[in-house]
Amino acid sequence: MLIERLKLNDFRNYESLLLRPDSGLNVIVGENAQGKTNAVEAIFLCAFGRSHRTAKDAELIRAGFAGGYVGMDIQAKSGSRTIEIKLKSGERKQIFIDKLMAKRTGELMGALNAVMFSPEDLELVKGAPAERRRFMDMELSQLRPAYYYTLQRYNAALRQRNALLKPDAKADMNAVRQQLYIWDEQLSKTGAEIMRMRAEFVQRLGLIASRLHRQISGEREALLVRYAPDVDIERMGGGDAEAALSEALYNGALDDIRRGYTGAGPHRDELELNLNGTNVRVFGSQGQQRTAALSLKLSELELIKGETGESPVLLLDDVLSELDEPRQRALLEAMSDCQTFLTCTTLEGLKRAGLKGINAWRCAAGTLTRE
Ligand SMILES: Nc1ncnc2c1ncn2[C@@H]1O[C@H](COP(=O)(O)OP(=O)(O)O)[C@@H](O)[C@H]1O
Ligand SMILES: [Mg+2]
Repeated sequence: MLIERLKLNDFRNYESLLLRPDSGLNVIVGENAQGKTNAVEAIFLCAFGRSHRTAKDAELIRAGFAGGYVGMDIQAKSGSRTIEIKLKSGERKQIFIDKLMAKRTGELMGALNAVMFSPEDLELVKGAPAERRRFMDMELSQLRPAYYYTLQRYNAALRQRNALLKPDAKADMNAVRQQLYIWDEQLSKTGAEIMRMRAEFVQRLGLIASRLHRQISGEREALLVRYAPDVDIERMGGGDAEAALSEALYNGALDDIRRGYTGAGPHRDELELNLNGTNVRVFGSQGQQRTAALSLKLSELELIKGETGESPVLLLDDVLSELDEPRQRALLEAMSDCQTFLTCTTLEGLKRAGLKGINAWRCAAGTLTRE
């Protein structure tokens, strides 16, 4: 995929920007707090329908202004497309695909495939299980828009069920239990679908990640990625995810009422990362954790390439300087056939890594000019 034109108006610290990126590597170089991350954030927004660093769209609008705009022309195998996002303070953002307003954010999924690498990727390995669930959710949504809708339905049902479990609604236990069952059915159906898709995704991702990790670590480390659903499908449902989830919800109803929230289901799933037989999150060194995070992200990239038959746009925000040589090499190799946006504070590291003919923009106070 190729971004041919990027236009920003009153987005973060950009008053207006019109950029015609190169089809290969685009370096955005500049000092801190000039707008480098803001530029890649705009691209991320068009790919995922949300920012990678805030859930509050209002923060994306240039301070003191009532609205903002991000637009881009994309060239993909399936044809060319225009994506536009209009931000208005106090209102929901509007998404336009080829000038037609999307009814739901989900319509955006897959229109622009992008993979972002940033220093925060380490959280994927070190952070709480929620980080790894979010990783599965975002990647699956890009690959399978149906997943995004199913997840939305699951989350909506979960919110409704949890609302019934709020302390003030506990008056009559039996009445509450009856009402819970209404939501259990929808949760089991959508939850089972989520579990099936996650299991399949992790299996394929895991194979690639093991291979890449072995390469990057110089054959020294074996990374094993395993989907660990909160509800044990084999034990509870004899292999049937819906039956397993339904049983877990039924059995847990009294505990849920006591606790005030739903205790079992894919909202508690985990993605296990084992290195040479131990949990890398707990026992891994900083270096091993970094390599594992990089392997996961590179696998995601390879998976998207394999599934869609085209290269996603790469966003590398401040990552290259943090990596040692073998990891840098792995990343630079992966980038060779992708349109890439790379931010950095100096060009020295790139030159040292052997990159020639660097196409760079200087970022200063919300402007980009060719170096
Ligand atoms: N909504 C906004 N309106 C105006 N300026 C903003 C807004 N959000 C962030 N900024 C400014 O953007 C700059 C940070 O940009 P960023 O892209 O994160 O920097 P960097 O170049 O270090 O990646 C800061 O100066 C910050 O004040
Ligand atoms: Mg930055």
